[in-house]
Amino acid sequence: MKELICLGIETTAHTFGIGIVTEKGKVLANCKKAYTTEKGGIIPYHLFEHHTNVATEVLKDALKIAGVKIDEIGLISYSNAPGLGNALRVGAFVARYLAGKNKIPLVGVNHCIAHLEIGRLLTKAKDPVMLYASGANTQIIGYEAGKYRIFGETLDIGVGNFLDSFARHVGLGFPGGPKVEELAKKYVSNYNNENKSKNKNIKSSSQPPLIELPYSVKGMDVAFGGLLTNLKQKFDSGRFSKEELCYSVQETVFAMLVEVSERAMAHTGKNELLLGGGVACNKRLQEMCRRMCEERGAKFFVPENQFLIDNGAMIAWNGILAFKGNGHKGIKIENADIKPYERTDEVLVEWR
Ligand code: ATP
Ligand code: FE2
Repeated sequence: MKELICLGIETTAHTFGIGIVTEKGKVLANCKKAYTTEKGGIIPYHLFEHHTNVATEVLKDALKIAGVKIDEIGLISYSNAPGLGNALRVGAFVARYLAGKNKIPLVGVNHCIAHLEIGRLLTKAKDPVMLYASGANTQIIGYEAGKYRIFGETLDIGVGNFLDSFARHVGLGFPGGPKVEELAKKYVSNYNNENKSKNKNIKSSSQPPLIELPYSVKGMDVAFGGLLTNLKQKFDSGRFSKEELCYSVQETVFAMLVEVSERAMAHTGKNELLLGGGVACNKRLQEMCRRMCEERGAKFFVPENQFLIDNGAMIAWNGILAFKGNGHKGIKIENADIKPYERTDEVLVEWR
């Protein structure tokens, strides 16, 4: 029998992505185009226009890179939840069109779960706690009794949106996360270079002192709103440099994320941690998670960046899992809807 190949469409937020993945988990293509703005956030109508305009090009690129024709695709999947209505609608439309025109079975998948499943596929983590840290989402997720449960989450904004808001306030532009990381790294290396030039005997690197910031962990939940206000006030006072604030903010919020991840691991007895989401690209966050895992004898997993940020390959892979898990049943085209507010723990995981 021919191997099943799935074409997955990701459009929950600013990325229009198409991935093509085989039943054995080989990623044949992972193409994307992202909507960006010079200043400010997403304008929903412009996002709709962006995704509509790039759809054909991204589709053609993906098929070309994968070296397959549309009639070799055995399954279409699309991210039906959660996300912005104007973005989700484009993916659902493209999916319905491709499935209907080419008579291909169709499935919808949850974006947050797709982040976790692509991580499990690529890192070989078996039953991890996932720290899903992206722009809009911050969740600690783990599998229990048929569903991916949310053990902890942000009580207000996502950690990525928090970093982006702080970065915008101090004039670093969007997306802010990578710029905050760069300035923090520079601050640490300047600090160490100065120390070494003062005292030639110092060989190893050390961490600069932290600016004290609000640390908001409630059980396994986190919150960033108060911290954001506090940071803005600190920056506006003129008493602190951008660099030292970037350093202190990373240390503080990543410590919060590591703490709640570790608590979830301890409560569930799981001994693997998997990272997902755009903020997980951050090397300092990775290092802090790795160290926590080492200290408790657990395994740490992180896929490469293209699979951490929003991507079509994860939707394609989750499509294959869902399709096989429910006995190869697709959904009717007229039922291919969107669920902007669906939560991770509402989805029945039939493939585990
Ligand atoms: P989701 O829909 O899952 O919430 P998203 O639309 O926010 O995802 P992602 O690509 O997962 O998209 O994440 C984008 C976020 O990741 C942005 O907030 C960005 O600032 C942040 N980010 C990217 N790289 C880094 C980094 N190196 N350090 C910190 N944050 C980063
Ligand atoms: Fe995402």
